[in-house]
Amino acid sequence: MKTVVVTGGTRGIGLEIVTRLVGDGYRVVAVGRRPSAGLDALLAAHADVLSFAAYDFDDLAGIHDFATRLAREHPGLYGLVNNAALGHAGLLPTLHERDIGALLRVNVEAPILLTKYLLRPMLIRGEGRIINISSVVAETGYKGLAVYGATKAALTGFTRSLAREVGKAGITVNAVAPGYLATDMTSGIADGQLDSIRRRSALGRLPEGSDVAAAVTYLLGEGARNVTGTTLTVDAGSTA
Ligand SMILES: NC(=O)c1ccc[n+]([C@@H]2O[C@H](COP(=O)([O-])OP(=O)(O)OC[C@H]3O[C@@H](n4cnc5c(N)ncnc54)[C@H](OP(=O)(O)O)[C@@H]3O)[C@@H](O)[C@H]2O)c1
Repeated sequence: MKTVVVTGGTRGIGLEIVTRLVGDGYRVVAVGRRPSAGLDALLAAHADVLSFAAYDFDDLAGIHDFATRLAREHPGLYGLVNNAALGHAGLLPTLHERDIGALLRVNVEAPILLTKYLLRPMLIRGEGRIINISSVVAETGYKGLAVYGATKAALTGFTRSLAREVGKAGITVNAVAPGYLATDMTSGIADGQLDSIRRRSALGRLPEGSDVAAAVTYLLGEGARNVTGTTLTVDAGSTA
């Protein structure tokens, strides 16, 4: 049974990814600051294959030790899904420096460091999958999301170069770019704005977390063994 670490696996898209991967026969480690009711219910039903590891990715200094513990407790780690992120929004002149710093730490530095340390067991085994959850905002831009958009663009750049670096070692690195979908992160977006995104999308709807989870399970699977360095957009055609 292959083990996959999913950061931000407690809520929203991450919880959908965890649910899907458990259903698809993976052993899953969900990481977040604290468990949620949704994750607790899943843990109760799948205690044999699902576990929770508490970590706050704002603490960059502790990531090495955390990753070492994960690798020790889950030898033969197969996949890492870097999904945890902050969505602080605000016009740049008014965005607090502390929010800018937190966005850069949690959305960029933490996944890079976690990947650096969890790559090691994958390199030794000559097999592994890294999936970074980016966003359509990395390419399209959105008023009030300049820093968030920068963090998501950083992840796609990271994805492409790392794919070149570790491909010969049998490891694929890809990104998934969801369009807007209803989660805690987007709860601040007015219904009118979401309606307008929905109306303008090619399919006339918003994607769902389960659609993002389907893209992740594809990239983890045998069918994607020759897919690396790419970004898979899941946005119901809003950027088509
Ligand atoms: N929703 C959208 O429309 C949308 C669109 C495009 C891309 N995305 C991307 O999709 C991913 C998931 O977004 P979402 O909408 O599901 O967000 P969400 O509902 O706000 O959930 C965020 C997840 O990240 C975890 N997290 C946040 N800060 C953390 C920290 N400091 N340390 C550890 N874990 C932390 C949270 O867990 P805890 O609270 O337990 O720490 C939670 O599980 C993100 O990468 C986001 O950028 C979302």
